[in-house]
Amino acid sequence: MPYDFETLPERRGTGASKWEAMLSDNPDLADDVVPLSVADMEFATPEPIKNALHRLIDETTLGYTEPTDAFYDACIAWQERRHGWKPERDWIVTSPGVVPALFTAVRAFTDEGDGVIIQPPVYYPFSMAIERTGRTILRNPLIEVDGSYRIDFDSLDRIAHSPEAKAIIICSPHNPVGRVWSEEELLRMVEICSDAGLVILCDEIHNDLILPGHVHHTLLKLATPEQARRIAVFTSYSKTFSLAGTLGSVIYIPDESLRKRFEDQHASEGFFGLNAFAFRSLIAAYDECEGWLDALIPVIDRNYRLLVDTLDGKLGGLRVIPLEGTYLPWVDFSAWGMDADEREMFLHKEAQLYLDGGAMFGEEGASFERFNIACPTWVLENALERLSAAYERLHDARKEIVQ
Ligand SMILES: Cc1ncc(COP(=O)(O)O)c(C=O)c1O
Repeated sequence: MPYDFETLPERRGTGASKWEAMLSDNPDLADDVVPLSVADMEFATPEPIKNALHRLIDETTLGYTEPTDAFYDACIAWQERRHGWKPERDWIVTSPGVVPALFTAVRAFTDEGDGVIIQPPVYYPFSMAIERTGRTILRNPLIEVDGSYRIDFDSLDRIAHSPEAKAIIICSPHNPVGRVWSEEELLRMVEICSDAGLVILCDEIHNDLILPGHVHHTLLKLATPEQARRIAVFTSYSKTFSLAGTLGSVIYIPDESLRKRFEDQHASEGFFGLNAFAFRSLIAAYDECEGWLDALIPVIDRNYRLLVDTLDGKLGGLRVIPLEGTYLPWVDFSAWGMDADEREMFLHKEAQLYLDGGAMFGEEGASFERFNIACPTWVLENALERLSAAYERLHDARKEIVQ
């Protein structure tokens, strides 16, 4: 079946977060300027999901909703087909998003003042979930080896065994550096953290967005039953199918007492039921949209190659970090010698390019920009042309000053 990855959906005026931010900075941008920031997609919603939501509105009413057999079966079958493991139905808990669920999990599994490990540069709400719940961030920064990111296992071992450490939030695949952690890397993380008695919160929201040649391993498939007793895995159909606005996530917690602590905490925060749109779209996505996802991955891969061909080692020495998963390539702009604010101003004003500045993912990211390439290829081509032209103007101006 042909899928449309070329038409740009109209999002102006719909409250779309990244569009609102861009247009509030400059309302007069040309129609073909598209923000390449916040991690949702500039592709039309897959037809089966649209049809399911139309039917929901046309044929019934939007009352309180909760998971049904069809919902649980869709989650289990998806994990079995796409990720080769079979969760039990009882393990499944739903939440209005991975981020709210992480807040709940930090509260449920740790006490105020406890330390929670993160590995920056990393998705910034991890820090929020720790700090805003009165816990302490323990940083184990990733290390760059030969242009790709690795885990600093020696340091992780030390921090995990410190008396204040009680939990870790792992990002797998890792947003923003685009790593799909290998089986060996995941096993080593689990071994260290289990040995230290930590609870492991593994955010696998990008698990379906894996580029050719790489394999995602869910932590619950690799862990021993004993290790799995202290693991919660956070997923969502919403990242895979660009349904973030439907606010839904699926969390797998095998251990009954860990799950009960999570559910009790979630309820005490006032979370009940399931968004009716999340319910319907998850079932349609998992049961009917696998073909769409299989057709999407080559588009992301094509866009990534375009980005590499245009930027890597070019434009004064930009560096594109190898992308293994997610649609969020990480690009090093340090060769430009600008600080983060200067660079943002330049990208906005001179290239009409709206990216996510790397500093938001931790100080290690200050010289980086995160691109979102889940958009029609022509949109990315236009953006890269604007960037190349802006760089040429900058280069010429710098030459003139030197002369
Ligand atoms: C690693 C990671 N976790 C969670 C989220 C957001 O999850 P949700 O929208 O379900 O709260 C994102 C969105 O970009 C993400 O990259």
